[in-house]
Order: sequence, then structure tokens, then C-alpha cells
Amino acid sequence: MADKEIKQIKDLIIEAGKRARQESDFEPEQALTQPVKWPVNCLVGPGLEGAIACESKIGYVNGSKGWLIYRGYDIFDLCAHSTFEEVAYLLLYGALPTVSQFDNFKAKLIKYRDINYTIRLLMGFPIEKMNAMAALRIGTNFMRQELTYVDSDAYSPDFDTAISADEDSIPMETKPRGEEHAIYEFKKASAGNKPRSVDKNLQFSAEEESCYSLISGVSTVAGVVARLRQDRIPIEPDPSLSHAGNLIYVITGRKPTPIEEKIMDIALILHADHGMNASTFATMVVASTLSDMYFAIGSGIAALNGPLHGGANERVVKMLQEIGGPGNVNKWFEEKLAKKEKIMGFGHRVYKAYDPRARVLGPLAEYLVEHSGNEEIKKLFRTAKTLEKKVVSRLGKEKKIFPNVDFYSGIIYLCLGIPMELFTPIFAVSRVSGWTARVREYLKANRIFRPRAVYVGPFDKRYEPIKKRSS
Ligand code: CMC
Repeated sequence: MADKEIKQIKDLIIEAGKRARQESDFEPEQALTQPVKWPVNCLVGPGLEGAIACESKIGYVNGSKGWLIYRGYDIFDLCAHSTFEEVAYLLLYGALPTVSQFDNFKAKLIKYRDINYTIRLLMGFPIEKMNAMAALRIGTNFMRQELTYVDSDAYSPDFDTAISADEDSIPMETKPRGEEHAIYEFKKASAGNKPRSVDKNLQFSAEEESCYSLISGVSTVAGVVARLRQDRIPIEPDPSLSHAGNLIYVITGRKPTPIEEKIMDIALILHADHGMNASTFATMVVASTLSDMYFAIGSGIAALNGPLHGGANERVVKMLQEIGGPGNVNKWFEEKLAKKEKIMGFGHRVYKAYDPRARVLGPLAEYLVEHSGNEEIKKLFRTAKTLEKKVVSRLGKEKKIFPNVDFYSGIIYLCLGIPMELFTPIFAVSRVSGWTARVREYLKANRIFRPRAVYVGPFDKRYEPIKKRSS
């Protein structure tokens, strides 16, 4: 039964891919994908639009044709036939793995699901009061502490200076026991003090192990955040489940059906990488200072949180709830248009055609909704379909505005039982694979990012003492 249903899912994707090809000219554009000769001339707009920051072999987006390609493979092909784990490997290494390479890679990912020290630290925080993305970001910092121990080294003060400068800061409840005690308090961490679990290779986290630990561990953190926000105890990852299946499990506490697992897997593939978007650029900027992979990924999570980027999927669902039903779409849309407000889940900085990710997610959402007994979600989906028709008919031709990846992903996650505040963290869980791959690639020929701002302020001011300044 599951095999038949999984074939149906594959057929939906193949069908969506065929439609995409029919609706756009699918000739490869080698001319645009040749290495550039530095320095390169490009026309740059505000927000660095048009600027070329680096060369990359990882992914290609053609916004006017609606293509998305990872390492040469069409996204529809990967969604129909691959898995998230395989795609993560492909992004990192540039080729699909052999059986033994893949077995090793999967074993590493499974090993790094267990981040018990990070979980313990998260449990000591008021996660239930925090924005889920803020909590996810903190989780990556705790992982850094658990898996690299760079913090202990970085912040171990010089022994003598620490004693003289900081003696008063020994907490009052600690009974003063003289120099011996003070020495103990400020003893510099030596290699021998590190827990045995710390892998030597992880000292410098640009290395591969940190990519594995982040690709895998951030999903565990997402699960912990979900559970703590519901006042529940975190769930131990299940090594028998795939990355997608385990993600659903650690968030919801429920083992997914094969179809649910497959659909989550496809959603993860679709979100894994997307050119030099804001969060990818943020991770690369941080990594280019030779900070480390954990800090870099933390900054990607921060950038992804914004509603113009990854934060839109949650807002889409809230927007559909606010519309209230397909019958209200016309009036609601005209009011928004009159106020020049943006409709969440539509438009894209790069895609001026139908976003290929939405082409896949739309039919998958429909499949799940049809098989769901939840009338509220069914109504949301009907509202979404009506809104899509309306927006595309009014703004599609004129402004090239079509549904983007965030338009249907939220409905899919609702069907999978995922709480709304976890939608953007799930985007991050997947995107960690693209972020780490791009950082690794960039660091091979690193140059710190340093664009310029055009100064347009004054020059001829004289300093006035504060009392002489007029209000
Ligand atoms: N609804 C209505 N009008 C829109 C929308 C929209 N969602 N997006 C763009 N426009 C209009 C905009 O009003 C402007 O019109 P005019 O030229 O008359 O002033 C024109 O299209 C160009 O807009 P822009 O803001 O300059 O376009 P951009 O390329 O800078 O913005 C965007 C891209 C994603 C920020 C924007 O489309 C948007 O805010 N969309 C809603 C939020 C959303 O869905 N975000 C998720 C993006 S996909 C996830 C990802 O890949 O990161």
C-alpha cells in the first residue's frame, strides 16, 4: 500500500516537472555558468542586487525560467528519486555517493543526532518563552560548546591576570579557601580537562565533522525546542528513522507514516539550497572572517528568521486563517492591493516565473489535505487555491508575481502535525546543508567579504559642547 502511495507522490513530482519544462524554455545556459574572470564588472542595485560575490558549483537558480539545480541535477529529478541525506552529501561533495560513502555519511548523521549536553543546556533555558528561531540559534551555540570546546579555550583567562583582576567575582556562597581555591576557580582548561567525547578534529569547526554535526544536530535542536515550548520532555532521536522521519518524530512524538516521511523528505530537499540568498550570504560573511561554522550557521538562522525570507511560511498560514475562507478572498485581496500591502507567500527576488519549489509543494499539499480528515486544514487549502488564482491572474503577467516556496509548505507542515512556530526552524534544519556546503566551498579560497557603502553625509561639521547645543 505504502509503495503504491509513494509512487503516486513520485508521479505528482514528475508531472510537475513536465509542466515546468513545457512552460519554460529548458535549454541549458552554459554561457551564464562559465567561471568568471576577476575582477568582474556587474551592475549592482540596492541590496547588492546583481552583485557577483563568488563562484560556486553548488547550485544554480534561473529566476526567469523557474529552474533550480543542485550540482547539475534538476530539483524535480532529485525530489522524485533522491533523499535529503543523499542531497546533503551531493551539496557537500559535488557528486552522488557510492553505497559505502553513503553508509558512512548516514552513520555520521545518526551519530550526531545525539547531542545530550546541548539538550541539557537547552532544558535549563526558558525556551517556552522564546521565539523558536532564537532558541534554535542558541542551540547551535550550545552545540559548539559540546562538540568543539572552543569556548573553554577562548575564555580561559590567563592564570595570573585572572586571579589578580577577578578575585572579587568568586560567588559569595563559595566559601573563601585562600589561594588554593582561587587557583582552582580560574584554572586554565588544558587538553586533559576536556571531556573525552570531544573529537580533536572538531577544534577547528570549518572541518567536515562540524558540517555533519550541524546538518544532523540542528534537527535534534528543533525537536527539543518544539517539545520544550509545549512543556514536554524532549524525545530521544530514533536511529532507525531517516532524517525526515526522525525530524517529524522528535517534534511531534509520533512516528510518521511512510507517506508523511516521504513528503517531509521532499520538503527538506526543496529547502536545502538556493543560491546566494540573504541567509546563505550571512553565513558566508561570518565564515569569511574565519569565525567558525557554528557561528556562521547561527547567523544564517538569524537571517532566515525575517518575514521577507524564511519567516513567511508561518505568516502564510496566519494570513489564510485571517481570510477565513475561499468566499472572502476577492474582497480581502482588493483591500490589500489598494493598501499596497504584500501578500505573503508570493513574489521572489529571483523568480520572475513560477517558483519550481511551489510547483512541487502545491500538489503534495493537495495530496495530504485530501487524505486528511481535518476540515479546518481543508478550508485553508481551498482558500489558498482561490488566492493563488486571484494573485496570479492580477499580478502574474503584470509584475511576475507567483507563489513561492513558502506558500504551500505551511499547509504541508500543518497536515504533518507540526506546530506553526516550527515552520521556519524546519526551513533552517534543511538549509543547514546548503549553508555548510557553501561555506566549505568558499573557505577553500577565502577572502573576507568587504563591500563598500557610498558616503552621502556631510563633512564640514564642528564639534559643539553639549550645553551649547540648541534643542
Ligand atoms: N504581494 C504583492 N505585491 C508584491 C509582492 C507580494 N508578495 N511581492 C512583490 N510585490 C510587488 C511590489 O509591491 C512591487 O510593486 P511596485 O513595483 O508597484 O512597487 C513589485 O512587486 C516589486 O517588489 P519588490 O519588493 O521590489 O520585490 P523584491 O524582489 O525586492 O521582493 C520579496 C521579493 C520576496 C521580498 C517580496 O516578493 C515579498 O515581500 N514577498 C512576500 C514575503 C514572502 O513571501 N517571502 C518569502 C520569499 S521566498 C523564501 C525564500 O526563498 O527566501
